Amino acid sequence: MCLVFQHFAPFPHPEFPMQIGPYALANRVFVAPMAGVTDRPFRQLCKRLGAAYAVSEMVTSRKDLWDSLKTSRRANHAGEPGPIAVQIAGTEGEMMAQAAVYNIARGAQIIDINMGCPAKKVCNRWAGSALMQDEALAIAIVQAVVKACAPHGVPVTLKMRTGWSAQGKNALAIALAAEQAGVAMVTVHGRTREQGYKGFAEYDTVRAVKAALRIPVVANGDIDTPQKAAAVLDYTGADAVMVGRAAQGRPWLFREINHYLATGTQLAPPLVEEVRRLLVEHLHDHYSLYGDYTGVRSARKHIGWYVQALPGSEAFRRQMLGLDETGAQVAAVQAFFDQLGAHMDRIPAPQQGAATTQHTGETV
Ligand SMILES: Cc1cc2nc3c(=O)[nH]c(=O)nc-3n(C[C@H](O)[C@H](O)[C@H](O)COP(=O)(O)O)c2cc1C
Repeated sequence: MCLVFQHFAPFPHPEFPMQIGPYALANRVFVAPMAGVTDRPFRQLCKRLGAAYAVSEMVTSRKDLWDSLKTSRRANHAGEPGPIAVQIAGTEGEMMAQAAVYNIARGAQIIDINMGCPAKKVCNRWAGSALMQDEALAIAIVQAVVKACAPHGVPVTLKMRTGWSAQGKNALAIALAAEQAGVAMVTVHGRTREQGYKGFAEYDTVRAVKAALRIPVVANGDIDTPQKAAAVLDYTGADAVMVGRAAQGRPWLFREINHYLATGTQLAPPLVEEVRRLLVEHLHDHYSLYGDYTGVRSARKHIGWYVQALPGSEAFRRQMLGLDETGAQVAAVQAFFDQLGAHMDRIPAPQQGAATTQHTGETV
């Protein structure tokens, strides 16, 4: 399928605003869960800039890890606008059901089951998208989680790929069974597990899933511009789009997509001054979650994404590696953008396709 980027009239969706169970969402543009990226500070920033919905990073269903620092940071939703959605992954229905209830007790309003992640450490234990290879187990897990969440009035959603391999594209079968089991929304990333992040996402499978289901269906994969978001929505008929890698270092993409969907016109890229302010706010929020020592180090990847398409980014990224105090990191970021601001008002528009081809996460 080749998506055509001609513009069509702005289209309000017939079922707009969409619902996940009892939760009505403000628009149809979501940020994708990305382990190591979509922590609470980044989710909050994306929501502030127009993402209607965000799923928190995967939290293990292994009880022995629930109290680890990593898991508790991942389950941090302080001040986050709702609905609070938490993703779980695992290999066994009962454990997944327990993990769902545990997360509900800690504030989750929606539970998302991960059947879409190709990460080795997840798939080797037969979780994530590896589950798609065993449909019976996948559905048993969905049923167990739905059953555990129902008494709490918490909807369950499912995120998956198009299938295990090119010969095993079973997203439609799993989606239908999941709907029957009581799942409230399905997201499909248009690649197989076998593909990892190679090649291109295809949207025919997403379209077929949308055509067959009554519950909302979300299209995901390689959406990196407002035009592409509009074309994918149009082609698949999906209720919403979910954006992952293209939003790394570019959280204003959500407002750009919303604006384009509403008006058919493209917003100008943000002012250098605004990006400087957003990044500095992001950094402070990041340090407050991780503490100074870890925060200054884990912030480097975010900074790298913000600056990657900007002049002087290579030297600046190298400079970042030598800074290990929060004050010095923030000052360097401010100086970089001040210097940039002396040459241009707005950051340059990204080249089409650049975002999703350059970013693959370290966990995938
Ligand atoms: C760094 C990284 C981490 C990810 N972690 C998760 C995860 O924890 N759970 C999940 O369902 N998908 C995960 N994904 C997959 C994304 O949610 C999304 O499906 C995928 O990146 C395709 O969308 P995109 O082309 O917009 O990036 C991850 C992707 C990346 C790049």
